[in-house]
Amino acid sequence: MQRPRCASEQRGVYSEMPRILIAGCGYVGQATADLFHAAGWDVEGWTASEESAAALSAKPYPICPVDISNCDQAAERPGVFDAVIHCASSRGGGIESYRQIYLNGARNLLDRFAETKVLLTSSTSVYAQRDGSWVSEESETKPARETGQVLLETEKLVLERRGTVARLAGIYGPGRSALLSKFLAGTATIDRENDRFVNQVHRDDIASAIYFLLTRETQQTQIYNVVDDQPMLQSECYRWLAQRLHRPLPPIGKSTGERKRGNSNKRVSNAKLRSLGWTLQYPTLVDAMEKSILRSMPVFDVPLSSKT
Ligand SMILES: NC(=O)c1ccc[n+]([C@@H]2O[C@H](COP(=O)([O-])OP(=O)(O)OC[C@H]3O[C@@H](n4cnc5c(N)ncnc54)[C@H](OP(=O)(O)O)[C@@H]3O)[C@@H](O)[C@H]2O)c1
Repeated sequence: MQRPRCASEQRGVYSEMPRILIAGCGYVGQATADLFHAAGWDVEGWTASEESAAALSAKPYPICPVDISNCDQAAERPGVFDAVIHCASSRGGGIESYRQIYLNGARNLLDRFAETKVLLTSSTSVYAQRDGSWVSEESETKPARETGQVLLETEKLVLERRGTVARLAGIYGPGRSALLSKFLAGTATIDRENDRFVNQVHRDDIASAIYFLLTRETQQTQIYNVVDDQPMLQSECYRWLAQRLHRPLPPIGKSTGERKRGNSNKRVSNAKLRSLGWTLQYPTLVDAMEKSILRSMPVFDVPLSSKT
């Protein structure tokens, strides 16, 4: 059957290299696609919209609009892959969009690529612990919200079909840090009574963890936490930012608004992935801020020592 051609694909040259499909070529998906491409893999990316695919047409690999929640679209798109990553996001969204994108999306990918390794990017939001304890992949998962339950159901499906689950902590990196944005916008507060640990991971370390997992033969049907080495109390993060950016500490007060991770307060351990030999480029918030995130914002790209 003739491949349908999308804009960037018209320039594509197909090789005999291992092939990977990134279903959800967004913030993490693109970094992951770039990493696999740089390592010589033949990459294809999917987005939900034609606009996003067109915006990525300069990538050296094809990006096509294919809606994974639509079983016909996923089934009709030809291609044979050695690995498939479900990296699509509901961007917040409600319960129905969670069901469509995560659960139905995963089912459609698993049906379409039944013989292929599938990796799901899930979330550490499935851990609902509230006592600041360390959690591992073996810890209880009882998400308070229905969206978290859909994620767990999706994980179960992927594991039953011999896939791999990567539970990602809060994603940050160039151009994205929820904490920094709140701090700079002046909407952060230090809630002394409800201080909690923040678990984060840099986008490029997620890409390297996914690469690590998919290039090792034995690691399927497993769950892995993908998080940096050092959960930090939220108040400590703000203290560090205030000192580093020479700005006042956020006011003391009650934090408001809905949190994706509910009222959970836990420290997520990466020991399982670490013990296999995964290494991080940005093991701590300070590393990530100094070496990547603040550097992507020229106004802050000044080492602390050179500020007076
Ligand atoms: N944000 C966090 O801190 C966090 C924490 C833990 C886990 N995660 C998970 O990490 C993964 C990656 O997140 P991200 O921040 O990289 O997401 P993102 O930047 O929002 O990108 C999502 C990508 O998925 C595509 N997509 C959405 N619905 C789709 C569909 N039905 N079919 C095909 N593609 C679809 C989007 O295409 P369009 O641009 O066309 O919409 C976009 O390319 C997600 O699974 C997310 O839930 C996120």
